Amino acid sequence: MELKSVQNAVNTLRNKVPAELSKPVIGIVCGSGLGTLADDLDARYEIDYADIPGFAESGVSGHKSKLAFGFLGKDVKVPVVCMLGRFHMYEGWTASQTVFPIRTMAQLGIESIIITNAAGSLNPQIPSGTIVTVHDHIAFPGLTSDNPLKGPLVPIQTPALAKSTPNPPQPPRFLPQSDAHCFDMRLLAHRAAHTIGLSKESLVEGTYCWVTGPTYETPAEGRLLRQAGADVVGMSTIPEVIAAHHAGVKVLVLSLVTNLVVIPESYPSAKAIIEAEVNGTPPPVYKKSEVVSHMEVLEEGQKKAQDMRRLVSEIIESRARS
Ligand code: 6GU
Repeated sequence: MELKSVQNAVNTLRNKVPAELSKPVIGIVCGSGLGTLADDLDARYEIDYADIPGFAESGVSGHKSKLAFGFLGKDVKVPVVCMLGRFHMYEGWTASQTVFPIRTMAQLGIESIIITNAAGSLNPQIPSGTIVTVHDHIAFPGLTSDNPLKGPLVPIQTPALAKSTPNPPQPPRFLPQSDAHCFDMRLLAHRAAHTIGLSKESLVEGTYCWVTGPTYETPAEGRLLRQAGADVVGMSTIPEVIAAHHAGVKVLVLSLVTNLVVIPESYPSAKAIIEAEVNGTPPPVYKKSEVVSHMEVLEEGQKKAQDMRRLVSEIIESRARS
């Protein structure tokens, strides 16, 4: 049974991780190119996913495969746990394998989770390099097929859940999602951005659309998602949001826009070129269309990783101070 295997992972962590680090209050998921978020950890202790029963092994370039425990903050030392490397469904993992580490961190006792990712922008007002605090999401696979809560109700009893819903301490079968993204955490994020002096354009609010991948969107798919109300799109995060929310953990998602989804106003016309050829008139000239690359995604992640790192640290410190 799922719950037993989560408890088994927790027991292993409690045995291996130094006692003072083994009760993290915040979880952090480091997205593509954002592994340096964990570089500021004091008294850092790392454990490979391979050494934690129940964890799969993530293998995408730019992603590692370990949990890093440590303290963040200067004035106040906050115990945190960072996932360096996450599981994506496009790698073939099931939704429940994908969220296993989230359930483990929830069972360990985290109260809040900061989930980061690299995403493509669908919104012309949101350029590359912007950080988006996610206020809502569209779970395309979750709506109709791959939902991490599908299957028997997991009788979880996390410390966070016991706190937020003491009576009864069980999440419901039909979990509301309207409050999946914690408003108070978003307030903290925007206040923190102000404190560390990020420009107001560099942090905006938006809606994230989760797709399975691994293909990037076609232009028509990009238009569809934009029309559906999404600002950014990516292949991760939302299964984790759903599992964390289910476990009573407060969720903040920070998406770093690494590239723009290509949505051309018109397509180069093969028909027009051939008609010009037949008519002996000059052919229309088209710009070569752009394509997204994983390199571009990683490079933008590295450029902005420093902002993301300062932001996450300040959110955690200010939360602990308040
Ligand atoms: Cl353009 N699409 C998706 N699905 N995920 C992404 C992305 C685009 N850019 C970064 N991650």
